[in-house]
Amino acid sequence: MVESGLQVQDVSRALTLEKRTLPILRNISFEVRQGEWVALTGPSGSGKSTLLGILGGIDRPTAGRVLLDGIELNALSEQKLARVRNEKIGVVFQGFYLLPTMSAQENVQAPLYIHRERKRAAALATAMLERVGLGDRVKHLPHQLSGGEQQRVAIARALVTQPRVLLADEPTGNLDSANGKRVLDLLRDLRAQLGLTIVMVTHDEHVAGYAERRLHLVDGQFQTPPQRGEYA
Ligand SMILES: Nc1ncnc2c1ncn2[C@@H]1O[C@H](COP(=O)(O)OP(=O)(O)OP(=O)(O)O)[C@@H](O)[C@H]1O
Ligand SMILES: [Mg+2]
Repeated sequence: MVESGLQVQDVSRALTLEKRTLPILRNISFEVRQGEWVALTGPSGSGKSTLLGILGGIDRPTAGRVLLDGIELNALSEQKLARVRNEKIGVVFQGFYLLPTMSAQENVQAPLYIHRERKRAAALATAMLERVGLGDRVKHLPHQLSGGEQQRVAIARALVTQPRVLLADEPTGNLDSANGKRVLDLLRDLRAQLGLTIVMVTHDEHVAGYAERRLHLVDGQFQTPPQRGEYA
């Protein structure tokens, strides 16, 4: 029986700069069950975005393994990894990284161009924009949208492929509290509807409270052992 969800086994990440090796993540191990919501907290520079990149198969660990539904990400070829990323993982980056010359709908459609659902790309993108409350903004360019609306487009783009896992780096970081709450309520609803696993980076205690569990990074290591249900 293959274990579902994310398993992180003794992951380290180091960077070599001018012959000096700088440890960024040190011997990180944890599991996230399918459908669980975990908040990743810690000071600036503690390695949160680096860890999220490794979970998403965007970056590779220097040592250790990451398994998603039993598939070892760092053992895959670039081509296979790209496919797993496209089908199973949705990422919302720190900042939104929407393509500025593309409409909301085209931004959301983009991951479907290389997906088995490419024939239905436009319809699926529109449906996902409706789901995040932007059904009347599909033709808007990013600069014609508010910060909260852009964030919701980024979430729609991450979820349009119906991934198993959503990795979100400060999904409410640039939003006022009303829009932040709207995005979090949306993630909560989507998680319930789609059975999504969520790993969310945040600086904010209140935002972290939406998650079932918190992992706190300091200097590339977990400060206290992860505890289940602390914020349930
Ligand atoms: N490409 C790189 N080259 C050199 N150092 C890097 C690189 N990427 C990350 N780092 C360093 O790794 C450490 C962790 O960075 P990371 O972006 O993961 O931190 P973070 O916890 O996400 O911080 P923040 O809360 O500010 O976003 C930092 O000290 C950073 O300077
Ligand atoms: Mg970061």
